[in-house]
Amino acid sequence: MNSFSFQNPTKIVFGQGTVGQLANLVAPFGKTVLVVYGGGSIKRSGLYDQVIAQLNSIGAKVVELSGIEPNPRLTSVNKGIELCRSEKVDLILAVGGGSVIDAAKAIAAGTKYEGDVWDFMMHKAEIKDALPIGTILTLSATGSEMNGNAVISNWETKQKRAFGSLHVYPRFSILDPTLTYTVPRDQTVNGVVDIMSHVFEQYFTLTENAPLQERLCESVLLTVIENAEKALENPNDYEARANLMLCGTMALNGGLISVGTQNDWASHGIEHEISAIYDIPHGAGLSIVFPNWMKHVYKERIDRFTQYAERVWGIERGTKSDEELALAGIEATREFFTRIGAPSTLAYYDIDSEHLDVMSREAVLFGPLGNFKKLHQEDVRQILENAL
Ligand code: NZQ
Ligand code: ZN
Repeated sequence: MNSFSFQNPTKIVFGQGTVGQLANLVAPFGKTVLVVYGGGSIKRSGLYDQVIAQLNSIGAKVVELSGIEPNPRLTSVNKGIELCRSEKVDLILAVGGGSVIDAAKAIAAGTKYEGDVWDFMMHKAEIKDALPIGTILTLSATGSEMNGNAVISNWETKQKRAFGSLHVYPRFSILDPTLTYTVPRDQTVNGVVDIMSHVFEQYFTLTENAPLQERLCESVLLTVIENAEKALENPNDYEARANLMLCGTMALNGGLISVGTQNDWASHGIEHEISAIYDIPHGAGLSIVFPNWMKHVYKERIDRFTQYAERVWGIERGTKSDEELALAGIEATREFFTRIGAPSTLAYYDIDSEHLDVMSREAVLFGPLGNFKKLHQEDVRQILENAL
């Protein structure tokens, strides 16, 4: 295990009816609140009205930024920055999924920065300050509700890039599992794949002697696998939705489940290149990329993959060789994704080989991807080709 420091400042308020605590959570931050939300799901579900009623009850001045896109755009972030400056916003309240929360983080950091907010995504500047953020999560997937990451798409340059900073961790996040009852089936599936993928990025590591971290990762995976189909069969199953929500938050909250280990993140890097060009949902892209990444790298440290097959998928070794067992675990992953309705090929989105060169070149823009196996442009291209 490596030495590490860990800090996570986000207060989580979890459970049915917790939106009722919003007024008390917001009040200490000041009077002017920018409410950021997406394409309208919060209006249809009635959540918007609850939020406004809570904010009115403390006499808050409400400023709104709606229409944040899935795969949020730089243009929306810039609109939010202008609003924060002109309205002198005290707190940004993100109400939605990862896209809305990520946009709020970029707005929060961009407002306090004189240069172009895109500098943060291009590693040209470091975030030194940000407006405070609170969130109400409506979709279990990214973990953005309890981490310092944001992923923003620049549609002009066809780039999708991330930043991370302690300054943009939400100050509080309200997690009410009933708010996810209305999530459409495909988005629930995408969320499940995203949560599992976040664990994979941390579980497949070369770091030795991290048995607790390995088991924490396996627990999240097992809990997601146990609850995904329950939530899909009955979208209003509180326990299933609650378990998925907690798993999403635990899977990516600054690395709690993988402290002291080296993470990978190559598959996320590859997926971001696909959605940068084709604007496909992040979880769907991961469902296509991950099994192919696994097949490309499993020989680097096969015992990680045999352990995964046995402990997560319950595959018995019997007379299987290490290789057969590892491959059976990878196949079980692909089968599970297919069973819940996640795509397995790029062809599903009519994506052909046209942009493979651009995607593989952009993926390694800042150097080789990943740590389990360092991926160079040819590796990324090979993985994408295998995904066609
Ligand atoms: O826009 P609205 O109308 O709200 O609809 C959204 C959107 O169309 C809908 N939705 C959300 N909650 C709903 C709902 N519909 C009905 N009922 C509800 N309760 O779902 C659609 C997708 O929402 P989105 O926020 O885009 O999904 P997700 O949470 O999966 O976020 C994806 C984005 O997060 C980034 C991804 O790259 C992608 O841009 N990621 C962020 C990370 C982070 N900050 O740590 C890590 C991830 O790996 C990921 O890269
Ligand atoms: Zn992800």
